[in-house]
Amino acid sequence: MEQRPRIDGHTLLAGVIGWPVAHSRSPLMHNFWLEKSGVNGVYVPLPVAPGQFETAVHGLRAAGFRGVNVTIPHKEAAYRIVDRLDRSAERSGSVNTLVFAENGTIEGYSTDGDGFVANVEAHGIEVAGGRALLLGAGGAARAIAASLLDRGVKVIVANRTRARAQVLAASLDGIELIDWEQAGQALPSCTLLVNTTSIGMEGVAGGAFPFSLEQASPDLVVCDIVYVPRQTALLEQAAARGLRTVDGLGMLIHQAGEGFRKWFGAVPDMGPEVEALLDADL
Ligand code: ATR
Repeated sequence: MEQRPRIDGHTLLAGVIGWPVAHSRSPLMHNFWLEKSGVNGVYVPLPVAPGQFETAVHGLRAAGFRGVNVTIPHKEAAYRIVDRLDRSAERSGSVNTLVFAENGTIEGYSTDGDGFVANVEAHGIEVAGGRALLLGAGGAARAIAASLLDRGVKVIVANRTRARAQVLAASLDGIELIDWEQAGQALPSCTLLVNTTSIGMEGVAGGAFPFSLEQASPDLVVCDIVYVPRQTALLEQAAARGLRTVDGLGMLIHQAGEGFRKWFGAVPDMGPEVEALLDADL
C-alpha cells in the first residue's frame, strides 16, 4: 500500500491564497516535490475572500506557516502587507510569494521573472548577453523584463497600447520601445522572442501578432508564457520554421520551485515527472 505522508508536530506548512483557488495547480506541484524530496510538509489551497487577506496572512503566520503563494485577487494586498520587499519584488512591482521569516517579518518575492529565465536555461539556452523582443506590458512582462535586464539582456518591448509600454519602460532602466505594428523590424537582430500577451490563450478570442516569423533570425528562440494550450499557434509557427521553442508550462513549474526552496529548504525535482503531472491536469 502507498505510504501516506505523516502529519505531525514537525510538519512544515505552506499554501496558496486566492479567491477562487480550487483551480490552482500549485498544490499538485508542491506536494509532489515534498513527497519526492522526503520533506515532512504539506501545501494546501487557502480560499480567502476579498477583504480577509490581512487577517488570513497574520493568522497563518501565527499558526507557524513557512509562507504562502498569493494569486488573484490578492496580489496588490500582498505587495502592501510585506515588511521587506526582495529585489525581485521591487523590480517587478509585484509579489507572488510570501516568506514568514523566523524573526517574525514577512518577506515578499516575485518568482515569475527568475522562473521564466530558469525554465529557458533548463532547455539548454543561454539568455545572458542576448537581445529579447518582449510582447506585452502587463505584470508578467515587467517581471520577465527585470530578470532579463539583470542578466545583461537587451530588452525591446512592444505592446498594443503604447502608453502602457511607456509605463513599463519608466519603471525599469534600459528598456527600448518599439511600436506594436513595427515589432517585426526588431526580429532579425533578436535571440529571444517572448509572448506575455494573452494572444493564443484558450478562451481568448481574436488578437494577432503584427509580424511573421519569416523575418526572424534562424537562431531565434521563441517563448510563450501561455500554457493552455501548451502548443500555441506562435510556437507551432516557430517550430514549422525550425526555430527552437519554449512553452509556458515550464515557467509555471520553475516559478513554483523558487518558493519551494525558500519555504522547505530543499531542491525541487525538475525532472519530466512534474511536467507530466501538470500536463495530465491541463
Ligand atoms: P499579465 O499581468 O498576466 O501580464 P495583463 O496585465 O492583463 O496580464 O496584460 C495582458 C497583455 O496582453 C497586455 O500587454 C495587453 O495589451 P494592452 O496593454 O494593449 O491591453 C496584451 N493583449 C491582450 N489582448 C491582446 C490583443 N488582442 N492584441 C494585442 N495585445 C493584447
